[in-house]
This record gives sequence, C-alpha cells and structure tokens, in this order.
Amino acid sequence: MKSWDLFFLHFLICLSIVTSPKSSAMFLPKDSYLINSGATTTINMPDNRVFKNDPQAASFLDSAFDNLASVPRTSYGVPSPIYLSARIFTEDATYSFPLSRPGWHWIRLYFHPFNVTATNDEYNLTQAQFSVKTDDVVLLHSFTVSDRWESVFKEYLLNVTTDRISIHFNPLKDSFAYVNGIEFVSAPDFLISNTAMNLAPVSEFSGLQEIAFQTVYRLNVGGGRITPFNDTLGRFWDNDEKYIVSKSASQNVTIPASYVKYPEGSSDLIAPNWVYASAIQTANANVSQSILNVTWNMPVDSSFSYLMRLHFCDIISKSLNDLYFNVYVNGRMAISGLDLSVVADGLSTTYYKDFVLSTTSIDSDRITVQISPANYNPDNMNALLNGIEILKMSNSVGSLDGEFGVDGAMLLAVSVKKKAFVALGIILMFGVFAGIGVMVVRWYRRPKDWENHNSFSGWLLPVNNNHSTFMSKTKSTVSGSQPNGFSASTGMSVYGSGLGQSYTLAELKVATKSFDEKAVIGVGGFGNVYVGKLEDGTKIAVKRANPHSEQGLLEFQTEIQMLSKLRHRHLVSLIGYCDENQEMILVYEFMSNGPFRDHLYGKGLPKLSWKQRLDICIGSARGLHYLHTGTAQGIIHRDVKTTNILLDEKLVAKVADFGLSKDGPSMPGVGHVSTAVKGSFGYLDPEYFRRQQLTDKSDVYSFGMVLFEALCARPALDTSKQREQVNLGEWAMKMKKKGMLSKIIDPFLVGKVADSSLKKFAEAAEKCLAEYGVDRPSMGDVLWNLEYSLQLHEANPPDLAANVEEKEAEINSCE
Ligand SMILES: *[C@@H]1O[C@H](CO)[C@@H](O)[C@H](O)[C@H]1NC(C)=O
Ligand SMILES: *[C@@H]1O[C@H](CO)[C@@H](O)[C@H](O)[C@H]1NC(C)=O
Ligand SMILES: *[C@@H]1O[C@H](CO)[C@@H](O)[C@H](O)[C@H]1NC(C)=O
Ligand SMILES: *[C@@H]1O[C@H](CO)[C@@H](O)[C@H](O)[C@H]1NC(C)=O
Ligand SMILES: *[C@@H]1O[C@H](CO)[C@@H](O)[C@H](O)[C@H]1NC(C)=O
Ligand SMILES: *[C@@H]1O[C@H](CO)[C@@H](O)[C@H](O)[C@H]1NC(C)=O
Ligand SMILES: *[C@@H]1O[C@H](CO)[C@@H](O)[C@H](O)[C@H]1NC(C)=O
Repeated sequence: MKSWDLFFLHFLICLSIVTSPKSSAMFLPKDSYLINSGATTTINMPDNRVFKNDPQAASFLDSAFDNLASVPRTSYGVPSPIYLSARIFTEDATYSFPLSRPGWHWIRLYFHPFNVTATNDEYNLTQAQFSVKTDDVVLLHSFTVSDRWESVFKEYLLNVTTDRISIHFNPLKDSFAYVNGIEFVSAPDFLISNTAMNLAPVSEFSGLQEIAFQTVYRLNVGGGRITPFNDTLGRFWDNDEKYIVSKSASQNVTIPASYVKYPEGSSDLIAPNWVYASAIQTANANVSQSILNVTWNMPVDSSFSYLMRLHFCDIISKSLNDLYFNVYVNGRMAISGLDLSVVADGLSTTYYKDFVLSTTSIDSDRITVQISPANYNPDNMNALLNGIEILKMSNSVGSLDGEFGVDGAMLLAVSVKKKAFVALGIILMFGVFAGIGVMVVRWYRRPKDWENHNSFSGWLLPVNNNHSTFMSKTKSTVSGSQPNGFSASTGMSVYGSGLGQSYTLAELKVATKSFDEKAVIGVGGFGNVYVGKLEDGTKIAVKRANPHSEQGLLEFQTEIQMLSKLRHRHLVSLIGYCDENQEMILVYEFMSNGPFRDHLYGKGLPKLSWKQRLDICIGSARGLHYLHTGTAQGIIHRDVKTTNILLDEKLVAKVADFGLSKDGPSMPGVGHVSTAVKGSFGYLDPEYFRRQQLTDKSDVYSFGMVLFEALCARPALDTSKQREQVNLGEWAMKMKKKGMLSKIIDPFLVGKVADSSLKKFAEAAEKCLAEYGVDRPSMGDVLWNLEYSLQLHEANPPDLAANVEEKEAEINSCE
C-alpha cells in the first residue's frame, strides 16, 4: 500500500513536471468577463475573443440610472468596434465580478467620446468627468477625454485576493460617467514576481504582489505592433519608433519567430515570440570606435514609481559568449556587461529583467533606456534590446491617478510621499561593496592622546563610500497590512516606537569634543566616524553624515527605525541617533578591539588562538544567521568580510555595517568592471556576479572566504602573490584537494589544532565557496559545522589528538 502511495506521488510529481509551463503555452483564464458596454449585439474579435453586450452582462452591473448609446460602425475610424457603443451613468454605478481564483487579473477599460446625438443628445461625452475605482485602488481620478476623435485604452494589473471585485464608476458632481468596454480577465501567477531590482538605491524591492499596476508602455522593440491576435494574454505591444532617440545609431534586426526558444520556467506568456524575434541593435557594429548609445525616451509622471521589464534575446550573435553590453536606465548602470549566453543559457533564448524605478530615480519626467556595447570583446561591439514594458505602480495611498486613495486619504507633501514610498519599499540600507583595490574607508591611526588602549588598531565601524556603491546593499520590506497592502499611514510616523535614543547635537559635541579632528577614527563618503564618550562614561562610535551626503533625512529616519529593531549579541548595536539641524548622526556601541582582520594579519597584534578564532567565526555566523532568518523578510548583509566583523573588549564578534549605507545616485564602479578582474573580487559571490541576483547564499560565499582568512591569516586577495595564489579561496581549495591544506595554514596554528577540528572547519569553508548558491549550506548549517569543529578541538586538545593519531597508526600497522 505504502509503495503504491509512493508510486502515485512520484507519478504526480512527474505529471507536474510535464505540465509545467511550456515554451508555447495556451493560457485559459479562469475568470474572463468581456463586455461591450452599451451595445446591442455581441462582438467577435479577430483574436477569437467574444465581447458580450450589456443586456447579457447586466447581471454584473448595479446602477440605478443609466443609458445605452451607440453610433453606427462606419462613422469613426476607431481601432476597435468596442469603442462604438457606450453605457452612460448619471449616478454611481458598479460592475461586480465574482472570482473563481485569487491572483493577478487584468482590468481593461475602453473610452471614446463619440457624438451621442444619434440616440440621445443630452450627453456630450467629451464633457463627462468621473473616477473609476475598485474597493482598494483608484484607477482613474477626475477622468475626462476631451478630444472627440480620441479613443483611450487603459490597462491595469491587480492581484485580487477577495472572491469578488467591484469596479465603481463615480461621476463628479453635475457630471456623468461612461464606458465603452470592460475586460476583467485572469493573468498567470508568474507574470509578476514579488521582487525586482530597485535601481536607486540599488537594492532588492520586495512586495510587488501588493502593488496595483497600470500599463504605461509596452513596446515591441524593432518590430511591428502586436495585437491580442498574437498574444494569448490579450496584450498590445507597440512599435518603439516614437521613443527611440537617435535612429541613425540603431538598426532593426529580426529572425523568424519560430526560432525563439524559452528557457525552462518561462513561456510565451511572459512575452510572445514575436517580441523576441525582433530587436534594435547598435548600428555600424563593426566600427567599434564610434559606437554610441542607443537611447529610448519615454515620458512618465514622475510622482509615481514604475516597474520596468526589459526583454532580451540574442538574435544577432553567431556563437556563445560573444556579445557583452551595458544597459543604462535614467543614466544609471542597470546591467553591466550583460552576457545573454550565461543568463539566457543560449542563443535566441529569451531573458527578461525587472527593475523598480522609484521616484528617486526619475528626476525628469521621463524614463530613458540606453544600451551600449561593453568593451569586453572588441570583435563584437554590439548591443540589443527586444522589448520594454513600463508599468506604473500604485502609490502609498493605493492610487494610480492623483494623490487620493479610495477612502479619500491624501498623500502628504512630496517629501512625505517619498517617505511613504520608502516605508513601503525600501527600508534597510546595507553596507557597501568595495571594488577591487578600493578600500571603503581610509582609516586613521587613532591619535595617542585621545585614548590609550594598546590593542586599539584603527578601530572601525565601516563607513560607506559613495564611490564604491555599485553593489551597495539594501533590503526592502513591505510594511502595512491593510487589505491589498495599501496603507495610507505607512511610514507616516517614523518617529516613535523603537527608535533608539535621540541625542542632542550638544550632547554629541560634548562626547566628541566638538567633533575633534583627533577623534576621527575613520572617514568615508558618508562622513566621518568619531570615537566619543558619553557623560556616564559609555564609549560610543559616532558616524556623522557629511552635509553633501545623498541620503535624505526622511530615509535616514526610516532606516534608523528598522535598524534599531535589529538586536542581537553578534550584531553591532545602533544605540541612538541625532537629526537636529539637518544633521544625520548615528551612535553605535564602541568596539574596542576593532576588526577581526587586524588580529589575523598586517597589524602585528598578538596572534589569536584556534579557539578564539573559532569563537569569533561562530559568533559572526550567529549574527549572520540571525540576519538571514531572524526577521520576516530575511536580510542579506552583502558585504561580509573580516573588516566588517568587529571585536569588543572580550573579543566577542559582532557583525557590523549591515545598515545604513547610502548610495549615490549612480554606480560608478560598474563601468570599470570587466571580465578580466571578475575572479579577483575576493569576497564576491561569482554567481551574484554572473546573474546579478543576490541571495543569502552570497553572504555564505563571502563567509567562506572569512573562514579561510581565519585559518590561513592572509588577505582574501593578495595580488603580490603568484597568480594561482592570489585568490585565497581558490588557492585553499586547490591545496585541500591535494591534501596539502596544512601547508598553507597560519604557521602559528601548526601543531595547535586537532586535525579533526581543522578538517571539519576546512570542509565548512569549502562548502561555502561552492560555485552555485544552491550547493552552498545555509548559515545555520555553517554554524552547526563550526560548533562541531570547536567540540572536536575541545575534545581532542592538540597533543592528545596527536597521540590518538599515533595510536591509530600503531593499530593500523598491527593489522
Ligand atoms: C460631432 O458633433 C460636432 C458638433 O455637433 C460636429 O462638429 C462634429 O463634426 C461631430 N463629429 C463627428 C465625428 O460626427
Ligand atoms: C461637446 O462639448 C465640447 C466642449 O467640451 C464642444 O466643443 C462640442 O461642440 C460639444 N458637442 C456637442 C455635440 O454639443
Ligand atoms: C497576491 O497577494 C497575496 C497577499 O499579498 C499573496 O499571498 C499572493 O501570493 C499574491 N498572488 C500572486 C499571484 O502573486
Ligand atoms: C524597424 O521596424 C519597424 C517595423 O517594421 C519599422 O516601423 C521601423 O521604422 C524600423 N526601424 C528602423 C530603425 O529601421
Ligand atoms: C501574428 O501571427 C501571424 C501568424 O500566426 C503572423 O503571420 C503575423 O506576422 C504575426 N503578427 C505580428 C505582428 O507579429
Ligand atoms: C561587419 O563586417 C562584416 C564583414 O566585413 C559584414 O559581413 C557584416 O555585414 C558587417 N556587419 C554590420 C552590422 O555592418
Ligand atoms: C551611454 O550612456 C551612459 C548613461 O547615460 C553614459 O554613462 C555613457 O557614457 C554613454 N556611452 C556613450 C558611448 O555615450
């Protein structure tokens, strides 16, 4: 019986594999309501969809007073017959549709103010003014179409979680409303995922499931208009010609649509193969010197945030790994050195990437997309783009049009609006990735007359530098849990709960002797770090943003709120802040023994014993484990390294710099990244580098480097070494495979570590450095292995261990 169950389970699994999205999927929407409002007959569209007329669909309509109106088909050159009839509402009216399945749904609305005179001359549709809302989202606010010749099509995408949706038409006072056609149709779940890369500050945006979207642009780059006839999801894709700036810099390229391949897990529901079969490429691809960016400009309303999806498919290369190009969005590097052979896994294979463009990344009223060849391969200087989708995101009061929510809640001043977005989207800012050779902070020697603690060694609390922020870290979370996630109040009261202590500027001036130059223990793009002493004698580290810091005061406050909630024995605590006079100052606990790195090499400090090193590694692993799992969303540190592990007076390890990096508007480091230096990044997860998808396993990778540093007492990258030895991780793994790891460990440790303990430790480090994230252990597993290694060490103190081995050898030789 049991085995039969198992077999059945297996069968089901196989079945589900077989039925997973195929390259050519036919999507049958569970919910599909297509209404040709005001019409007397049904319409059969060329794409086989049938729009019912209103009397047939009237059961969905709740309206006390309404009128039907229509004009003869021949009188207008409208794009669709749906526009030739309308239903007119003189009072509030509601269409209400039951859902058979929650999830993403399209709402599509058709408007055209034709001359009603033929049937009813009371209504001049160009004068109608009204709002359209669902129970949670404002779709249109004081909407009107004043051009008699215009037909307006609006498309929305909403994750509906209730079992019924209502679409309300509310005429303004003394006016009336009308609609020519309505669609309410299911969309596939995987169409929009919950996360995307936030462009500025560079971070992961999480919480897209709770946002409502309105399609603003959907462009089939380099190809003609695609209609629902060729798109199962009923979408329109327009030609991009209107938006491309320098036509002479670009060329059309097309392949037969049937050549387009979809990778596993994707399908033509993401975008039809017609989209990928055409592209714009850089013109004069052969003349490498004179290559310019190909640029598209799309006007948008900059008071909203946008989700942008870029579609790529390498339809121009003859072989793999031949084409590398950069993608810029609003002047910022969005993708550096994109290699479609890697991310799409083949030629003519589709790939897309989502970006969130918050109001901070849209400074003029437009979105600019640019592509240009990267300099990696001089023989093929080219770049291409196949499709652009831009969706407006509902704001914090749940509106897609104007600043009022369904319940009349109003967005406050612009600055507050920004804050609300921040609260909804980005909350935690993380430390900064320092590119090769770039130290984030220049550390000053602690002045002798300020403090006289001998083990002090350039104490540091890493400061973030705007010049190395291309991989700065942010973790986004969504707060607010009102229905559909729209929260009018979210983030409005940053002050209050759990903010840590607020210090006055005067107090901090006293503590740091008026920000005495001599108290500076570190400088960075964010500002200086000072050591200080509070009145009660507590030593503190004071991080003061310089006035030119890009960080906004409001974001700063929001971040403090989140940061001060993170409390763990192995995380450096934020104890307070000061924001008087536009100052942005953070107060941290003081870590008297400075960074772990200084105790390993380079500073001539007393060597740490194996147990001390293990304790420090275990402590920092605990801190990271807490970051990854201790909060609902999980937090990725993104800059794990021995200088970010600080030691207090008892050598207790605390992870630092998991908060508050503020990155600049651009990512200057990116331009200098080339494949040549790819291997040299030391701590950088190679998979992250390739796929630009950051996971907690990227921290695990970096932590593996920390473990080898602790073991070998040398930097992760040492360019003074022979080539094969430059990268510690590679070198250590190579030596371990040869069974020669003992040759490269810190000479100080030789003979003082139980072999079993060393072996367990090295295994843990090696697993962390696995090429692919999925093969790496979780931080919890790493922690377990390190603790095991410590137990082995304590159970077999080195001398004893040596004895055991000798004995084992004896026994073996006896056999
Ligand atoms: C609609 O009516 C206006 C005013 O009566 C007239 O000028 C216009 O030509 C009409 N438009 C069409 C398309 O019939
Ligand atoms: C409808 O109103 C517009 C102004 O909003 C006016 O120009 C037009 O002539 C009116 N049409 C009719 C048929 O009255
Ligand atoms: C819709 O939102 C709900 C609640 O936020 C979420 O649980 C669900 O996964 C979302 N559905 C999709 C298809 O994203
Ligand atoms: C590319 O093709 C489209 C559709 O065929 C055409 O409208 C457009 O003019 C072409 N653009 C260029 C730059 O050749
Ligand atoms: C739509 O599909 C048909 C064949 O199915 C094809 O002939 C036509 O070119 C396609 N149209 C576009 C705009 O891609
Ligand atoms: C580049 O040069 C080669 C040979 O000179 C030619 O066949 C090819 O068409 C050129 N490509 C472009 C895009 O001009
Ligand atoms: C392309 O655009 C980006 C961003 O606007 C800019 O940094 C870069 O210098 C441009 N490249 C060329 C060749 O103009």
